[in-house]
Amino acid sequence: MSALFSPLTLRGVTLRNRIVVSPMCQYSAERGEASEWHMIHLGHLALSGAGLLCIEATAVEPDGRITPADLGLWDDATEAALKPVLAAIRKHSHVPVAMQLSHAGRKASSHVPWAGGQLIPVAGGGWLPHAPSALPHKAGEAPPLALDNAGLNRIREAFAASARRAARLGIDALEVHAAHGYLLHQFLSPIANQRTDEYGGSRENRWRFPLEILDIVRAAFPADKPVGVRVSATDWVEGGITLEDTIAFAHELKKRGCDWIDVSSGGVSPLQKIPLEPGYQVPFARAVKKATGLTTIAVGLITDAQHASELVEAGDADLVAMARAMLYDPRWPWHAAAQLGASVEAPPQYWRSQPRDQKALFGETTLGQR
Ligand SMILES: Cc1cc2nc3c(=O)[nH]c(=O)nc-3n(C[C@H](O)[C@H](O)[C@H](O)COP(=O)(O)O)c2cc1C
Repeated sequence: MSALFSPLTLRGVTLRNRIVVSPMCQYSAERGEASEWHMIHLGHLALSGAGLLCIEATAVEPDGRITPADLGLWDDATEAALKPVLAAIRKHSHVPVAMQLSHAGRKASSHVPWAGGQLIPVAGGGWLPHAPSALPHKAGEAPPLALDNAGLNRIREAFAASARRAARLGIDALEVHAAHGYLLHQFLSPIANQRTDEYGGSRENRWRFPLEILDIVRAAFPADKPVGVRVSATDWVEGGITLEDTIAFAHELKKRGCDWIDVSSGGVSPLQKIPLEPGYQVPFARAVKKATGLTTIAVGLITDAQHASELVEAGDADLVAMARAMLYDPRWPWHAAAQLGASVEAPPQYWRSQPRDQKALFGETTLGQR
């Protein structure tokens, strides 16, 4: 059997295969509320045959949105808006659904990417972002407000409340977003964190707030459902986080019962230099997994089924997350299964699409019912 199509159980949740639909911001919510777009977007990805579908970065408070159009989960209205989307997924797919909980920190209050992504000033309808230190992301941008104790508390409570709401919605797993230069990554990285209290300075101090958030989310979410963390393994910039820092941090995550580490990179500095090539972040995933034994997700320019399967087979990672390739070809897992001689779950409405030379693609059970 192809390693990519072997199941994996995390706490009480079993993934049918190792393919994860990576979280992807859609900038299509209104006041944080999921829209028809989420029904279409998540609905069709729920039929992709992936082992896990992760909902985009979901803001735990309005201030923590990257853009005014970000998805959120901070009040009854945002919770209610996700309900029909999840109900539709549940009705037509068995895919476990994860959600990435996020706070944008100093990268909040920006225009959507297709409008340029620049910071929106308060006068233009934006808001003043909060961050570990009053340091802007880009030179020349207005500095964010440094979080004080009350602000840290507000954010702790927001993560806990969102995790409780996610549990109520029946979300199967959570991923804490501590990558890509958003708030928790800002705490981790000396590039964005120059605090002089117990949340800044030494590596252990910079880890403190992200680890508190993991503990808080873990405590607020059912014990039989997994909670993972996405990190940027390196900042790709002088003076930033290195792979060695990330491995040490991953040991702390493991001690706290973190169920997976999703190994991405970059995002905290516009000065980053990223050598893009297929699987460019896999070496980080491999190193983290080898050093810690944590369940590890590899991500980044993995688009070829054979490559994806080989890296699971080789033990470089336990799971492979895919973003752009999944948008380009939402049936990527079907095609991968066909190529690798495996099977995927397909909705009965689509069974007739099974290629003549792929009689087992939709599995024994579905075939039996045809
Ligand atoms: C449209 C789009 C939206 C994204 N939004 C998020 C997000 O919400 N959270 C996150 O951690 N990464 C996000 N990413 C990054 C992806 O999850 C992934 O890590 C990255 O695109 C590399 O994987 P790929 O080469 O398979 O696309 C986004 C990427 C894309 C293309």
